Amino acid sequence: MTTKTVSRDQFPKDFKWGVATSSFQIEGAHDSDGKGPSIWDTFCATEGKIADASNGHVACEHYTRWPEDVDLIARLGVNAYRFSMSWPRVQPDGQGAWNEAGFAFYDQLITALEERGIERHLTLNHWDLPQSLQDQGGWANRDVCGHFTRYATEVARRFGHRVHSICTHNEPWVIAILGYEQGIFAPGIQSRSQAMQAVHHLLLSHGMALQAMRGLGLATPMGIVLNLSPIYPASDDPKDVAKAKLDDGLILRLYMDALYKGVYPQDVIDHLGSDAPQLQAGDLATMAQSNDFLGVNYYTRNFSSSGNPWDVTSTGNAVTDMGWEVYPQGLTELLCRLHTDYHPQGLWVTENGAAFKDQMVNGEVNDPQRLAYIRDHIAATHDAIQQGVPVGAYFAWSLMDNFEWASGYAKRFGLVHVDFETQKRTFKNSALWYQKFLAGK
Ligand code: FCB
Repeated sequence: MTTKTVSRDQFPKDFKWGVATSSFQIEGAHDSDGKGPSIWDTFCATEGKIADASNGHVACEHYTRWPEDVDLIARLGVNAYRFSMSWPRVQPDGQGAWNEAGFAFYDQLITALEERGIERHLTLNHWDLPQSLQDQGGWANRDVCGHFTRYATEVARRFGHRVHSICTHNEPWVIAILGYEQGIFAPGIQSRSQAMQAVHHLLLSHGMALQAMRGLGLATPMGIVLNLSPIYPASDDPKDVAKAKLDDGLILRLYMDALYKGVYPQDVIDHLGSDAPQLQAGDLATMAQSNDFLGVNYYTRNFSSSGNPWDVTSTGNAVTDMGWEVYPQGLTELLCRLHTDYHPQGLWVTENGAAFKDQMVNGEVNDPQRLAYIRDHIAATHDAIQQGVPVGAYFAWSLMDNFEWASGYAKRFGLVHVDFETQKRTFKNSALWYQKFLAGK
């Protein structure tokens, strides 16, 4: 367990310090000004899918409260903000006309960030696919690749010169596996073959979009964000060891080998058998465009067991409100491994944070566990840098409490507390700590 305390001046001068959000989780205004429905609107409307039966209709009302939210970002003292664009807000059906009112929203947000000197890091797909594309099969239908490329190119044409990076997809594993195989996230499908086809189309459309956006002559850094963690066998039992290797293949190597080596790992393809993705000639080369950065979202480590599921409390480490073990050194390990095995050009921590039960007492939210989580993962990032890994950014998840997908509003990840009755924003103590850290105090 890393217990060292680091300060901002121990990081490279040009290090990006940020907070992250995503469109569906904060914007609300689900049908305002011509926005079309996304798969998450549909999923939320399906009984039993969201723990508290909530939806994204209002969320943090960021669509109208964005000036206040930009103020919060500026007050924190970060130099970078990672956010996503809602595809159905700017192209309601995902393949037809552009919605100028939707683009105007992002234009004013970007302008406000520019005025504050805060870098803009834009994600094109943080899960809210236009529903009308899902009606045609969504990410499991190869046609989506062309639609996504058109959307990406239009966004890059309009905003590419005003943002500091463009990420195509946030966490393809989550989209494909939780959405199309386990069915616990939108669109709620349970089919391994559809999930694997979705993986393939996400990676393929990433490559196609990069080629097309670069064709505009933009120098803007472009890349992708993956959810990754180290995976350990639950015991020395060879069955657990084999399971851990396979799980690492399904979660990390499938994506990293495709993106950085232009191959799908053979052991994973063999394991998938008839569910393995269907490829066309040239797909693998298209997927392996050079990325200017790889974004890593890290929350916890994983254990693989061939028998009973791993007991998360067995290590004695703290466990978050999501039931995730707090394990900062897993981040150091992961960053070192990615650097050694794949040598990505830029390596950024694009999400890291924790849900804990917060209480507002006399206008104050004391959240020592979240504060320690963020502090220790920043130290873990520093450990990786000291071991020679050129990490370039750390974005805390999240700016503020928001709609946590299938968990609804019950799980709070924010540095800033949101009272969902009044929409009042309050800095939690973790936010005050981050603010001090960023000020070099
Ligand atoms: C990640 C998502 C993000 C948020 C965190 C807790 O998987 O990218 O939107 O929900 O988990």
